[in-house]
Amino acid sequence: MMFDMDNTSSFKNESFYNDTGELYKNGTLPIWAIKFYFTVIFFGSFVSFVSVIALLRCKRSGQVTCNYLGVIFNDILPEFKEINLKQKLLITHTAMHGVGTPYVKKVFDGIGIIFQTVPEQQDPDPEFSTVKFPNPEEGKSSLDLAFRTADQQGSVVILANDPDADRLACAEKQKDTNQWKVFTGNELGALLGWWMLFQYRKKNPGKSLENVYMVCSTVSSMILRTIAKAEGFHFIDTLTGFKWIGNKALELQSAGKEVIFGFEEAIGYMCSMAVVDKDGVSAAYQLATCASYLYSQGKTINQQLQEIYDKYGQHLSLNSYYICHDPVLIKKIFDKIRTKRGPDTYPETILNGKYQITTVRDLTTGYDNNQPDKKAVLPVSSSSQMITFNFSNGLVCTLRTSGTEPKIKYYTEMCAYPDIKDKTQITKTLEEMVDAICEEMFEPKLNGLQAKAG
Ligand SMILES: *[C@@H]1O[C@H](CO)[C@@H](O)[C@H](O)[C@H]1NC(C)=O
Repeated sequence: MMFDMDNTSSFKNESFYNDTGELYKNGTLPIWAIKFYFTVIFFGSFVSFVSVIALLRCKRSGQVTCNYLGVIFNDILPEFKEINLKQKLLITHTAMHGVGTPYVKKVFDGIGIIFQTVPEQQDPDPEFSTVKFPNPEEGKSSLDLAFRTADQQGSVVILANDPDADRLACAEKQKDTNQWKVFTGNELGALLGWWMLFQYRKKNPGKSLENVYMVCSTVSSMILRTIAKAEGFHFIDTLTGFKWIGNKALELQSAGKEVIFGFEEAIGYMCSMAVVDKDGVSAAYQLATCASYLYSQGKTINQQLQEIYDKYGQHLSLNSYYICHDPVLIKKIFDKIRTKRGPDTYPETILNGKYQITTVRDLTTGYDNNQPDKKAVLPVSSSSQMITFNFSNGLVCTLRTSGTEPKIKYYTEMCAYPDIKDKTQITKTLEEMVDAICEEMFEPKLNGLQAKAG
C-alpha cells in the first residue's frame, strides 16, 4: 500500500505527500470529519456508525493510516456499505506472510466486510515459511493454504495480497466444478474497471463520460480500451510499470481530467487517485464490495466477468518468453524484424498472408505507422527492444526484452469482436497466430532460443 518500498516515490506528487510521506490533499482531518458528521446526521444509520467508530479508533494508528481510511470510507457509497453488512459474504484474506493484515482489517471492519485470515500467513514472517514463492502472481501453489482455510469455513471468495500489500489476487470457488478459479491480472483489471465505471455512474448520474479516463500499461489487456470505445470514456496506455501509469494519471488530473482506474497485468490496481500507485488494500476493499454486490444480485464474480466479455467481446491472452543470454543475438533478431525489405519495413502478414498486420509501433526506434508523422507517442528507449503489432482480426502482439532477465518476452491478446461468440475458435486462432509469430519473427531453432519450460 502507501508505504511501498518500490522505487516509485519519484512520481508521488508533492501535493499528496509531504516529506514524511503523509497524505495531505484528500485526507486532512477537518474535511472528512465534517463530511462524516453530515453523513451521520443525514443517514443516522448503523452503516455510517460503523465507519465513524473505525475512524475514531484509527486515531491511535497514526495520521497516514487514519487519513487513508478517511478517504476510503468517504469514497464508498452508503448503499454499498449497507449491502456489505446485509450480504455477510465471508472473505478469506491472506497477507502472504507480509504487512497487509492490519490495514485490510481496519478497512474491512469500517465498511462492513466480514473476513477471516489465513492464520499461518497473517503476520510478517521473513522466512515465508508456508509458500514456495510468496507471490500470488505465481498462481495457484501460493494459495494452497488459503484454499484449505476457505474450504473449512465455507468461504467462496479469497483475496490475497503480496507481502508488501501493493498487489492483489483473487480466487472464487466455482459452483459447477467445485474448483477454485484464480483470476488473472487481466481478468481482475476488466472486472475492477467495470466496477469503477459502475460506481462512477452511480455517484454522477447522467454525467457525460467525456472527461473520464482509465490508464493501463501497454502489455496489459486492452479490454478497457474496448469498453472505453463502447461507453464513451477515454483510455490511455503507457509503458509498463506503475511509475508510468501514476505519472500519466497525475498529468491528466492536473489537466482537469478524472482518472477513475489504472492497472497493470501483474495484478497491480489503482482504484483511487488518493494513492497514485498500485495499492492492494484499496483494491481488496473494492473487490470485496463488488463481490458482495454481485452476490446480492445472485451473481458470482466469474459470471459478471463473462457478462463483460459477452457484451464487449472476448479478450484472450497468451504470454510467454524465450531465454536468450546473448544480447548481440537479441539485437540481431529484432533488427531483422524491422528491416524486412530495407529500413522500417516490418512484416505485413504472417502465415503467407493469412493474417494481416495493420499497424506497427516500435518503441526502440520510435517508429509508429499509426501516427500521421510516423513517430511514436510513448517514450522511446533504444536500450531495450519493444515492438507492438496490431492485426486486422483484433490480435495485439508485443515483443520485448526484459530489462532485468535474459528473456525475449511476448504478450499477445485476441480482442475479438463482440459478435464472435465461439471461444474455442478464438482460442484456436490465437494459438495458431502466436505459433506463427514466434516461428517467423524469432526463428527459435535457427537462433538456438530456449522456450519457457512447461
Ligand atoms: C492498434 O489499433 C488501435 C486502434 O484500433 C490503436 O488505438 C492503437 O494505437 C494501435 N496500436 C499500435 C501499437 O499500433
